[in-house]
Amino acid sequence: MKKVLMVCLGNICRSPLAEAILQSKVNSKEIVVDSAGTADYHTGKQPDIRSIEIAAKFGLDIHKQKARTFEVRNFDTFDHIYVMDKSNYQNVLELARDKNDVLKVKMILNELHPNKNLEVPDPYYGGDQGFKNVYNMLDEACDVIAKQLQ
Ligand code: 4NP
Repeated sequence: MKKVLMVCLGNICRSPLAEAILQSKVNSKEIVVDSAGTADYHTGKQPDIRSIEIAAKFGLDIHKQKARTFEVRNFDTFDHIYVMDKSNYQNVLELARDKNDVLKVKMILNELHPNKNLEVPDPYYGGDQGFKNVYNMLDEACDVIAKQLQ
């Protein structure tokens, strides 16, 4: 069983979508996908309604997800940790204990555009178009990740 963790800031907009999109593209008997946020502002809450709605448009139901915070022990549980932006990357790396932990952490769009360090923009303060844009970026990146994992 391989385990993949998607990480953003609040765990209510981007990483819940990334979790559901990747899980929909892989065999759930072989690969488990989870998500977390680097901040605890929204712990226990369901995803942002705009993420729930864009996911539903593409046939994915994320309303039962609950936000949680990234913890150091997640480095032990997960094989791959994908972050959405540079700030998430810094926040997760600050908790890394050794080189093995560091090597698990990747900017998710680098799977599509290697070494470019492009970011999945935080859509929280924008409109619906931002969520659609995030969905499309994550869908493309997860296609690549799913192929690598199988
Ligand atoms: P996320 O988006 O990191 O994609 O879940 C955000 C959600 C909440 C906040 C910021 C970003 N916030 O400031 O509360």
